[in-house]
Amino acid sequence: MHGTSKEQPVRQDPPSPAGDGGATPLRGLSARLLVLTVIFVLIAEVLIFLPSVANFRNVWLQSHLDTAETASIVYLDSEDPMLSDKAQREFLSATESLAVVIREGSMSRMMASVKMPLSVDESFDLTVMRPFESVASALAMLVSTRPGIYRVFGPMKSRPAIIELVQEDGPLKAALRTYSRNVALLSLAISLITAALVYFALYLMIVRPIRRLSQNMTAFSQEPDNAALILAPSDRTDEIGVAERRLAAFETDLHRTLRQRQHLADLGLAVSKINHDLRNILASAQLFSDRLSNLPDPTVQRLAPKLLRAINRAAGYAQSVLAYGRAREAAPDRRPLGLRAIVEDVGESLAPESVGVEWFNEVDETLEVNVDAEQFFRVIMNVCRNAIQAMERAGPQALRRLTVTANHSGRVTELRVADTGPGIDAAVYGELFKPFGGSAQSGGTGLGLVIAAELVRAHGGTIGVEQTSPAGTVFLVTLPDRENGNDNDG
Ligand SMILES: Nc1ncnc2c1ncn2[C@@H]1O[C@H](COP(=O)(O)OP(=O)(O)OP(=O)(O)O)[C@@H](O)[C@H]1O
Ligand SMILES: [Mg+2]
Repeated sequence: MHGTSKEQPVRQDPPSPAGDGGATPLRGLSARLLVLTVIFVLIAEVLIFLPSVANFRNVWLQSHLDTAETASIVYLDSEDPMLSDKAQREFLSATESLAVVIREGSMSRMMASVKMPLSVDESFDLTVMRPFESVASALAMLVSTRPGIYRVFGPMKSRPAIIELVQEDGPLKAALRTYSRNVALLSLAISLITAALVYFALYLMIVRPIRRLSQNMTAFSQEPDNAALILAPSDRTDEIGVAERRLAAFETDLHRTLRQRQHLADLGLAVSKINHDLRNILASAQLFSDRLSNLPDPTVQRLAPKLLRAINRAAGYAQSVLAYGRAREAAPDRRPLGLRAIVEDVGESLAPESVGVEWFNEVDETLEVNVDAEQFFRVIMNVCRNAIQAMERAGPQALRRLTVTANHSGRVTELRVADTGPGIDAAVYGELFKPFGGSAQSGGTGLGLVIAAELVRAHGGTIGVEQTSPAGTVFLVTLPDRENGNDNDG
């Protein structure tokens, strides 16, 4: 055959494994964090570098002024106003200067000077040092390539005078560059170390758990019916811990819902199949029991009609389920009926299962209810059968008494089914009326009460546990009177 078959479902590519869960390493959260940390630390280093390079320049200049001052003190007090050429050369080389001048009041004294005319490009006054100017001038020197000459002056520490140096800017530039290079290398090292530490901390605290969350979401969303994929939350108390627990709860819920749905769908199909063939089997059973009721034996005469009624009931129900198709019950076909008779009927039907159980049908002969006979029979049947099964679980010595009472007050009929069983298991109590949720007995499907509740609701009533304890349980069914007298509009 050529071409694609129409029955083939459209293939949906599963999300790539490197989807949100396994984000590619370079574009993931962790890589971005690493890059951002390095950038932020470098910015911080630059902000620290600017004032520090300006400070370095000022300290450098001041220390040269100090050296010159120390050297000049010896000569300042001597009688000889002029230094020899040799002394001047030594003086200048010791202070890395081209000229040294001391100004005292209006007197200005040239201590030493090279023998050539000097043209000064810039002046630095260390008495007034403005931060921004210092930074700007230090940066300008760092980037300038043209050699220049500057004048720097500041107050002397040993006397009220100003000392002034004329210097080539080469040595200062070289010192500034060495300093900057060292700071840059140091900054880089610090930023890398800090970034690595911050990164690892963030990685452990945030990135890894988030990655675990996102990987889990991806895996679970691809296979939500696999319970092994439900996240196992850590015991963290922070936001991530909260997210983990919420996600785990969500996945558990979803998983349970899906399983329940699947169960219901499987069951729906099974029920339809069973019903289909059951109808035929019941039809032959009807025929046999019909023939049976013609036998003269008195026991057979007594039991055969009950058998026939039970089979008829089953056949009718199988037929109606098939007719309505799905799990939805047919709308109740309501008629006025004696409640006591229905309870009696249930007792007889349950007789084979309730050997050893004392039955008390205390419903008043005159009490009438307006209900669908078959449906209400099933309600009482399910509740009573649960009671009998519960009492059986309590062991053979335990008291087994089942009492059905009813009263009509206001516009509501209340029906109570009380047993002397062991009480409802705490584990199933909250789930009693959820499909498959509330079965604590082996062999139970957990549908009995769900069916009963659905049927009671269709009659506008309620069903619930009135009380339960190790001494027994009471189920209460309430049934409001119909608003009008019409019987068959339900
Ligand atoms: N009278 C009761 N005393 C103690 N437990 C009860 C009583 N009635 C119901 N239960 C508990 O509630 C559970 C749910 O009852 P339900 O009738 O919905 O399902 P089931 O009896 O387990 O199965 P099935 O679908 O066959 O009826 C029972 O398994 C039982 O544990
Ligand atoms: Mg049951």
